[in-house]
Amino acid sequence: TESFDEECDYLFKAVLIGDSAVGKSNLLSRFAKNEFCLESKPTIGVEFAYRNIRVGDKLIKAQIWDTAGQERFRAITSSYYRGALGALLVYDITRKSTFESLKKWLKEVREFGSRELVVVLVGNKSDLAQYREVNLEDGRSLAQLEDLSFMETSAKENLNVEEAFLQMITRIY
Ligand code: GTP
Ligand code: MG
Repeated sequence: TESFDEECDYLFKAVLIGDSAVGKSNLLSRFAKNEFCLESKPTIGVEFAYRNIRVGDKLIKAQIWDTAGQERFRAITSSYYRGALGALLVYDITRKSTFESLKKWLKEVREFGSRELVVVLVGNKSDLAQYREVNLEDGRSLAQLEDLSFMETSAKENLNVEEAFLQMITRIY
């Protein structure tokens, strides 16, 4: 990883979205700090974290915003999306309802996100395969239909987390 005071070539904003408890905050803490918490609390309002990433010969500073999946804890939607170039749209593979909510989230993304927003669909908690309610194929075909990148991840086991964020970043640059 790169040090914070190193000169960066690009600064960009990305957002995390998806239902409550799908693992947005843990994906971010895994990506930004390599930390995971089994008993994390629901996010209230907006939080964010930075990470510097090298893509080819470019140093990119990613500012990643995280908000509550629960409506009542959410901040103003339009300002959350403002200026964002990328989004990770997260569901939980062990809860079908979080997959069914994706329609609603995609509607919001299209309403408030910029036209060029790069969206990566993420099915999180792949470590809990024995409780799976959403097939890999279902995630994949939705992504294809909606023209999104797609990946299953585990913030807990650190599977594909880096890849999901990098997929988004490399599609932007
Ligand atoms: P809100 O802030 O309410 O929108 O929720 P969130 O999407 O930020 O979820 P959060 O990261 O707080 O995680 C919710 C719960 O799921 C916590 O108990 C986490 O420990 C757990 N969790 C997150 N990611 C994983 C994962 O990959 N595997 C497993 N087994 N548990 C996870
Ligand atoms: Mg959270």
